Amino acid sequence: MADLTLRNGPGGETVGASFWEQVGGRATFERLVRRFYEGVRDDALLRPMYPEEDLEGAIQRLTGFLEQYWGGPATYSEQRGHPRLRMRHAAFPVGPAARDRWLAHMRAAVDDLGLSPLHHAMLWDYLERAAHAMVNRFDDPGLADASSSTDGE
Ligand code: HEM
Repeated sequence: MADLTLRNGPGGETVGASFWEQVGGRATFERLVRRFYEGVRDDALLRPMYPEEDLEGAIQRLTGFLEQYWGGPATYSEQRGHPRLRMRHAAFPVGPAARDRWLAHMRAAVDDLGLSPLHHAMLWDYLERAAHAMVNRFDDPGLADASSSTDGE
C-alpha cells in the first residue's frame, strides 16, 4: 500500500482510492469472508440455513457482494443481478438470535483483519446496520414471552 496516492476532492473528501483498495482489495475481503464462514460452519443455528456442503458458493457470493459495495469490481451484479438483499433473505428465518450469531462471527472476522481503527469502524458500522436491516421475523424461540408482554400498552 506504500504507493497509494490520495487526493482531496472539492468537499475535502478523499478521492483516488476506494475503501476496497485502501484495505487491500480482493485478498482482504476473501480473508474476511472465509474467516466468517469458519464460524458459521460450527454454528448450530446458522449452519442448517446454508445447504451447500462446502459453503464455497456462499463464500464467493458474500465476498463478491462486499467487494462491490466497497468500491471493488462489480462482478457480483454481473453474475447475480441487483443485490436486493432483503428479498433474497426472505427465504431464511432471520430473527434476532440469528442476526446476533451472524454478527458475532462477523465481528471475530473483522477483528482478525487488523485494519486501521478508521477502516475497522467503517466496516463494522456498515455490517452491524446491514444485519439489523436483514431481520425478517421476531419470533425466535424463547422470545415469545418478551414480545407479548408489551401487548395492550
Ligand atoms: C443477519 C443475519 C444474516 C443471516 C442469518 C444470513 C443468511 C444468509 C443465507 C442463509 C444465505 C444463503 C447462502 C447463499 O446462497 O449465498 C445468505 C446469502 C447472502 N447474504 Fe446473508 N445473512 C445475514 C445477513 C447478511 C448481511 C448483513 C449481508 C450484507 C452485508 C448479507 C449478504 C448476503 C449475500 C450477498 C448473500 C448472497 C445473495 C445471493 O446472491 O444469492 N447477509 N445469507
